[in-house]
Amino acid sequence: MSTINEKLTFKRGLTLKNRIMMAPMTTKMSFYDGVVTQDEIDYYSMRAGEIGAVITGAANVQPDGKGWEGELGVYDDKFIPGLAKLAAGIKKNGTKAILQIFHGGRMTNSQVLRGTQPVSASAVAAERPDAETPRALESEEIVALISNFKAATKRAIAAGFDGVELHGANTYLLQQFFSPHSNRREDEWGGSLEKRFRFIKEVVQAVTSAVDESGVENFIVGYRFSPEEYENPGIRFADTLYLVGQLAEMGLDYLHISLNQADKVSVSEDYQEKSMMAYVYEKINGRLPLIGVGDVRVGKDAEAILAQADAVALGKALLLDPNWLPKVLNGQENLIRQELSRFDCEELRISNGVWGFLESMMPERLY
Ligand SMILES: Cc1cc2nc3c(=O)[nH]c(=O)nc-3n(C[C@H](O)[C@H](O)[C@H](O)COP(=O)(O)O)c2cc1C
Repeated sequence: MSTINEKLTFKRGLTLKNRIMMAPMTTKMSFYDGVVTQDEIDYYSMRAGEIGAVITGAANVQPDGKGWEGELGVYDDKFIPGLAKLAAGIKKNGTKAILQIFHGGRMTNSQVLRGTQPVSASAVAAERPDAETPRALESEEIVALISNFKAATKRAIAAGFDGVELHGANTYLLQQFFSPHSNRREDEWGGSLEKRFRFIKEVVQAVTSAVDESGVENFIVGYRFSPEEYENPGIRFADTLYLVGQLAEMGLDYLHISLNQADKVSVSEDYQEKSMMAYVYEKINGRLPLIGVGDVRVGKDAEAILAQADAVALGKALLLDPNWLPKVLNGQENLIRQELSRFDCEELRISNGVWGFLESMMPERLY
C-alpha cells in the first residue's frame, strides 16, 4: 500500500509528486462560448502547487457535446490560447495539469445547445424529469466524433497540458454508448456488450494514437468510468469488470473510478463481499494505476482509499479548502474547512453555478 506523499510514475513517464489529485469538477465559469476565464484560471491555480495533479472539469470536444452553461470548450483551435493559460496556471510548483474531455450526449438540452436537438447512441431519453429525447447519431457522425476526441487531445498537447482524461463516467456520451439503456442500436455500434464497448475502444485508440503520433513526451491518457447504473436495462457491475479488463490492455496510463462514497458496495448480489473499488483494483491487478475517489474529508479517508487504489482524487475537499494537503501533512487537520458559507465563495472563486450545485448535493455543509 502506498502513502499520500509517495510519488507515482505512469507508463508514459509522467511522475506525480504525491498521490493526491484534484477530482474533475466543472467550475461553470467559462465564457458563454467555452473560452477559459481569468477567474477560472485563478480558481484552479489557487488549488495547485501542493497536490500531484489537477484534473479540470469536463471540456466538450464538439459543440453539440456541451452539457451545461459555463463549460470549457476544446472543439476548436480558438480555445488553445486560453487553455494554455489554464495549463500554465495549474503547473505551479510541479503540479501536473490534466484536461478532462467529453461529449454530454443526451445529458443536455436544446436550450444549452441553442436550438439543436441533443444526440446520443439511440433516441432514448434519460430517466430524469424534463429529459429531452435525443437524436440517434448516424454512423458517419460517430466516426467524426471519434476524430474530434483525437483533435481535442492534440489541442491539449498544444496548450501544454500533461495529459487528458476521457470522461466515460457520470452518464455522459461515452457511458451512453456502453449502456444498454441509452444504446439500443443494432448496427456495429450496439447490440452485444462487445459492440457497446466499440465506441469507447475506438475513442481510446484515437486518443492514444494522437499522443503517440505527436511525439510529445510524458503526456498521459486516463479513463474515468462509473461502475453501475440503476436503470433497467442498465450497466451492471459485471459489465464494468468487463470494461475494466478491456481498458487495462489498451495503452492507457490510468483508470479513474467515479464514486460519491469510496466504500460503496454494488447492488449486484454477486459482488457484495467488498467495495466496488476493491473489486476493480483486484481486476486491474497492477496493470495500470487506479484512482479512487469519494467523500474524502481528512487524511485517514485518503489513506483508506490507498489500500484499494494507487492515487486519490479529492473533489469537494479541495473546493472547500485549497490548502487541504499541507494541513494534512502538517498535522493541522482540525483547521480543514469542512463547511462553506456564501461569503467564502468570492475568496475561493466558487461560482454561483457551482454553489447552486452544492445546494442540491450537500446542503448540510453550507451556511
Ligand atoms: C461542483 C462539482 C462539479 C463536478 N464536475 C465533474 C466533472 O466535470 N467531471 C467529472 O468527472 N466529475 C465531476 N464531478 C464529480 C467529482 O469529480 C467527484 O467524483 C465527486 O464530487 C465525489 O468526490 P468528492 O466527494 O471528493 O467531492 C463534480 C463534482 C462537483 C462537486
